[in-house]
Amino acid sequence: MSEPATIVIFGASGDLTSRKLIPALFDNFRKKRLPLGTRIVGFARTPMSNDEFRDKMCVSAKEAMGHHCEEGAWSEFASMISYCAGDLSNADDYEKLEKHLADFEGENHGRLYYLAIAPKLYPKAVEQLGAAGMASEDQGWRRVIIEKPFGTDLASAKALNATVHSVFDEQQVYRIDHYLGKETVQNLLVFRFANSIYEPIWNRNYVDHVQITVGETVTVGSRAGYYDKAGVLRDMFQNHMLQVLTLVAMEPPSKFEANALRDEKVKVLNAIRTPAQDLVEDYSIISQYAGYHNEPDVPGDSTTPTYAAVRLDIDNWRWRGVPFYLRSGKGLAKKTTEVQIQFLCPPHMMFDADDDTTVECNRLTLTIQPDEGIHLAFQTKVPDAGMKLKPSIMDFHYSDSYDTGAIPDAYERLLLDAIHGDASLFIRRDEIEMAWQIMDPVIAGWAARGDASIPMYKVGSWGPVEADTFLKREGRKWINDQAPWQHERRKT
Ligand SMILES: NC(=O)c1ccc[n+]([C@@H]2O[C@H](COP(=O)([O-])OP(=O)(O)OC[C@H]3O[C@@H](n4cnc5c(N)ncnc54)[C@H](OP(=O)(O)O)[C@@H]3O)[C@@H](O)[C@H]2O)c1
Repeated sequence: MSEPATIVIFGASGDLTSRKLIPALFDNFRKKRLPLGTRIVGFARTPMSNDEFRDKMCVSAKEAMGHHCEEGAWSEFASMISYCAGDLSNADDYEKLEKHLADFEGENHGRLYYLAIAPKLYPKAVEQLGAAGMASEDQGWRRVIIEKPFGTDLASAKALNATVHSVFDEQQVYRIDHYLGKETVQNLLVFRFANSIYEPIWNRNYVDHVQITVGETVTVGSRAGYYDKAGVLRDMFQNHMLQVLTLVAMEPPSKFEANALRDEKVKVLNAIRTPAQDLVEDYSIISQYAGYHNEPDVPGDSTTPTYAAVRLDIDNWRWRGVPFYLRSGKGLAKKTTEVQIQFLCPPHMMFDADDDTTVECNRLTLTIQPDEGIHLAFQTKVPDAGMKLKPSIMDFHYSDSYDTGAIPDAYERLLLDAIHGDASLFIRRDEIEMAWQIMDPVIAGWAARGDASIPMYKVGSWGPVEADTFLKREGRKWINDQAPWQHERRKT
């Protein structure tokens, strides 16, 4: 167990703290995973007493966790929480915070600063922590978690990294992408590197292409203030989707250790062919759902994409010639995050296909959410006379093998890792900059097209028809339904 730690949450009166951070810390507390002597200090401008802050957190933790928020455990947990009101741009308030911390911190007390604040405030908070001497590790370790988005393009990410590193060393910095805290994203590593039978076929000799889909059924709703400036390419592709891609495509690291793992991810990002800005229409499409302009705070002339599909190519021995198709959108037909590994078809089919035969080449689906699982599609013989073929699916559902409560929220794992100093599931400086380097030309390419009309799609659909045409042109199709032939059978 690590030495005692204080988790100082900047932005403690905000949404992320109450919906995610406090419930995740409480769950870790219930599981007895927090180091002895752990303290949680909320910091924000809103004046609140310790009790008022604890009550506020209790209400939201109950909302987030339902029956898990038992009274007894909560009051013990609440006694570890306190609140210090202050403005992060005011140097005096750091003195006040330091005094607040000194009341209970002894020697060798680690500190984790969690920046749950608007991105424009990250530099100020970091600079002030530095100026107040609060990044110095003389009295125990000091780490900082920085939320997403980390920059809005390569230049801003580099500038933010420069500010962060004027105060903290890389080993003190934990850039979060909550996708990496998801059990099923980590299971990608286990599936690939704790089994031996997939590795020989995990390459250009057997894989035709890979699809990574992040579909949301919800529309922008009240989040347009942020979303309309970001759009889907910044909101999903630069971070979550590229992270998933690296785990699918990387070489096996020699050990599960932060730098070994991240070195391999960086190699993948490095091998992705830089998209050409002026050819953006050749390898990507963007779209917006009909009715987007009617959402609160969306400007009437907004061309912000709410859907995008991008082809990326990885120029290395393993993946050369195997396209990775990434697509994501809001207001789609299904909430899902999945990776489809589409294998090549057999080089020769000796069975005569007739009207009753459906041929689907082998496909592996790794469902990251919501119905976490793994599914392998393969051909089977239809019983009875003749040689009719039909695909079938071998299914693994997490919920069948483990308790449904076994999949904790991503923040639970990530907070614990940061407390224990394990940065494996956090993004390194070079990784974040490389990810922007890949997405910048795509974003700029579409922005350069200015007000050229952006195709629309219907809410509840799988995106615009242009997305289907885009893949059809490449001789492929989107996999929206894992097993349409199974529904056909049920109908008959
Ligand atoms: N919410 C989510 O689900 C989510 C998911 C992924 C990433 N994130 C990221 O997490 C960060 C926080 O998001 P959020 O949704 O929690 O934002 P939020 O609800 O707007 O909260 C922002 C917090 O910052 C505090 N704050 C603002 N100015 C301050 C100042 N000068 N000094 C001290 N505190 C100040 C606010 O409190 P006072 O007004 O009391 O000062 C508030 O507690 C953002 O970077 C966001 O992109 C959030």
